Amino acid sequence: MITLMYISCTEDRPRAANAHVADELHASLEAHEPWISPKFLYDALGSKLFEAICELPEYYPTRTEAAILSRHGAEIARVVGSGTTLVDLGAGNCAKAASLFPLLAPAQYVAIDISAEFLCDALTRLRQRFPHIDMHGIGMDFSSRFELPPQVRSARRLFFYPGSSIGNFTPSEAQAFLRRLRLQCGSDGGVLLGIDLAKDKATLDAAYDDALGVTSAFNLNVLRHVNELIEADFDIRAWRHHGFYNPARGRVEMHLEAVRRQEVRWKGGGRTFEAGDTIHTENSYKYQQAEAIALLERSGFEATRVWTDPQRWFAVIHAQAIG
Ligand code: TRP
Repeated sequence: MITLMYISCTEDRPRAANAHVADELHASLEAHEPWISPKFLYDALGSKLFEAICELPEYYPTRTEAAILSRHGAEIARVVGSGTTLVDLGAGNCAKAASLFPLLAPAQYVAIDISAEFLCDALTRLRQRFPHIDMHGIGMDFSSRFELPPQVRSARRLFFYPGSSIGNFTPSEAQAFLRRLRLQCGSDGGVLLGIDLAKDKATLDAAYDDALGVTSAFNLNVLRHVNELIEADFDIRAWRHHGFYNPARGRVEMHLEAVRRQEVRWKGGGRTFEAGDTIHTENSYKYQQAEAIALLERSGFEATRVWTDPQRWFAVIHAQAIG
């Protein structure tokens, strides 16, 4: 079952996990190679920490993508056209989409994010800046299933998926996800995708393990969130962040490593972690430009334009629905 939640800023939202979330976390924490789904990185504090990551000198993707959007915004708007139904996937603070509003003039803006509270605050501010744009916020996990409520206009849907979040899926999951988007847009729809390109290891290692330790705090925060969701007792001080590029697999990997042997309990279960055991929290696949285009084509889209930065570190791709 899909959970759709319309954001109303006055409503109190439940803090504890629903049964589905609890089952999912139990299974992944009890697995032979334990992992935590990256969507749990984004509670209200996690979203704020991620905002701070985006400001770090080492974390080039946000800045590089913003520069591409700003430099080529007029051309992007010409290719995409005005009056679209702009669906922002993982909208966060909505800043990237908002930067395009003046040029893109969407007919409707639909912001979707799992971090509902954070999104709600961002949208409240955005409505004041752009009162003439019809805006909707949806607190939803769109990673496994994807359906849009009837309030979302069906004409000319443009799915905006920036920040290389597509890289947080494996390539086959990414294809399945893009196919779901394809099913949600008619023949007049498309995607505007921001994708991080493969590059040297040192740059990638630094981007995912910064000197200040903000990325470490962001990754460790998932344990605090899990403690809250399933009444677990992870001792955050007993874990260490690891983020590094794995060139053989073409991805940055994020892990949490136990610094000592420990027993962790949660409601209805628990397990022992030995010193050095790890919990995998996230992958961030890095693509060659041609691979990204091929991925879109396998998913029912045809790339119409690609914009990159002078170093070719990041690409923004517009693709139109086909077939
Ligand atoms: N979508 C972001 C990325 O892949 C997410 C991210 C950035 C992230 N830094 C992280 C996830 C550190 C976990 C840990 O670039």
